Amino acid sequence: MRKWLLALAATALASVSLAQGKLEIFSWWAGDEGPALQALLDLYKKKYPNVEVVNATVTGGSGVNARAVLKTRMLGGDPPDSFQVHAGQELIGTWVVAGRMEDLSSLYKSEGWLTKFPKGLIDLLSYNGGIWSVPVNIHRSNVMWYNPAKLREWGVQPPKTWAEFLTTCATLKGKGVEAPLALGEAWTQQHLWESVALGVLGPDSYANLWNGKLKFNDPKAVAVWDTFGKVLDCANKDASGLSWQQATDRVVQGQSAFNIMGDWAAGYMVTTLKLKPGEGFGWAPSPSTGGTFMMLSDSFGLPKGVKNRTQVLNWLKLLGSKEGQDAFNPLKGSIAARTDSDLSKYNAYLQSAARDWKSNKIVGSLVHGAVAPESFSSQFGTVMEIYLSSKNARAAANAAQAIADQVRLGR
Ligand code: GAL
Repeated sequence: MRKWLLALAATALASVSLAQGKLEIFSWWAGDEGPALQALLDLYKKKYPNVEVVNATVTGGSGVNARAVLKTRMLGGDPPDSFQVHAGQELIGTWVVAGRMEDLSSLYKSEGWLTKFPKGLIDLLSYNGGIWSVPVNIHRSNVMWYNPAKLREWGVQPPKTWAEFLTTCATLKGKGVEAPLALGEAWTQQHLWESVALGVLGPDSYANLWNGKLKFNDPKAVAVWDTFGKVLDCANKDASGLSWQQATDRVVQGQSAFNIMGDWAAGYMVTTLKLKPGEGFGWAPSPSTGGTFMMLSDSFGLPKGVKNRTQVLNWLKLLGSKEGQDAFNPLKGSIAARTDSDLSKYNAYLQSAARDWKSNKIVGSLVHGAVAPESFSSQFGTVMEIYLSSKNARAAANAAQAIADQVRLGR
């Protein structure tokens, strides 16, 4: 009996680590955005019950506020143990080039991740021979959300192109829908812009904006602003006061017909609002972008000089694991970054996103850090303000090109 009890205790200990200490995880996943992260933190607590986990969040969609706090902490020599950062230029162009992050290549090797994550994604996380963070998901930026029951009632179909969108918008206005498109605060307007840009330019020219081959003031790129202006005329006039969730609510509640937002909106509608994909909400690629998946990925890294390095490595191992990714993503509204996730755990929207991720052409998001460094994306807000106050497409395009030149975008 004693032997048996000892064996049982040994098995229990084997799955629970005696590691001690603290782990501070820094992100903008607060409130409605919190459940997926919480599931991951709960898993961590289960494995490392003696580690004190601090869930440090700074509210504000797309990290608008969190990034400012992070900057102060990093520059002040007080880095969080691990922080949320978008895969791509947001991480590389800021903290990697500044020499503030640890290279995680050896972790990728020891965890066998080099064959578990898509090569294109590993390339996005790589720079100067190193791999600099661990991706927890893949989000899609170019999605149009709608309320199927309301579209039926209004007798309209989800538009496939921006031209169709504008016609549908006029039809809906004729039926008394004041704002066919629901829009939110500043960053969500930039989010809409990147979908319009992809639709107007197509994937190759869109990608050329970021590698410097297409100038923002090329007539082709100026035309993006013209379409953007017409699309804006379909939106609510109180946009700047709405969070992305409140803009989503407008569609769910039937005040507006459409919303262009990343698929964290699916996470919100399923996890928080308890809607069923395909019934409570419908989706389609944002107009004129069918066949292209505009991606972004949330990742976490290991800043140099953190207090709890071992705990961070255990955290990164968990979020790169199949178990971690399949706990996080079904709640988050994203698909796993790993290629071996268990799709039966994912809802109908996410299964369709996973299919598109495999078969579509892939481009990266501007607003969510994939294609341009923060030195560009943080100034894009000014470009947007120039456009909104003047409605002058050429002025906005020239301002964007001036910033691109200043930060040597694509070079
Ligand atoms: C994105 C982020 C998503 C989601 C969204 C809204 O930038 O990648 O995970 O949090 O912002 O806040």
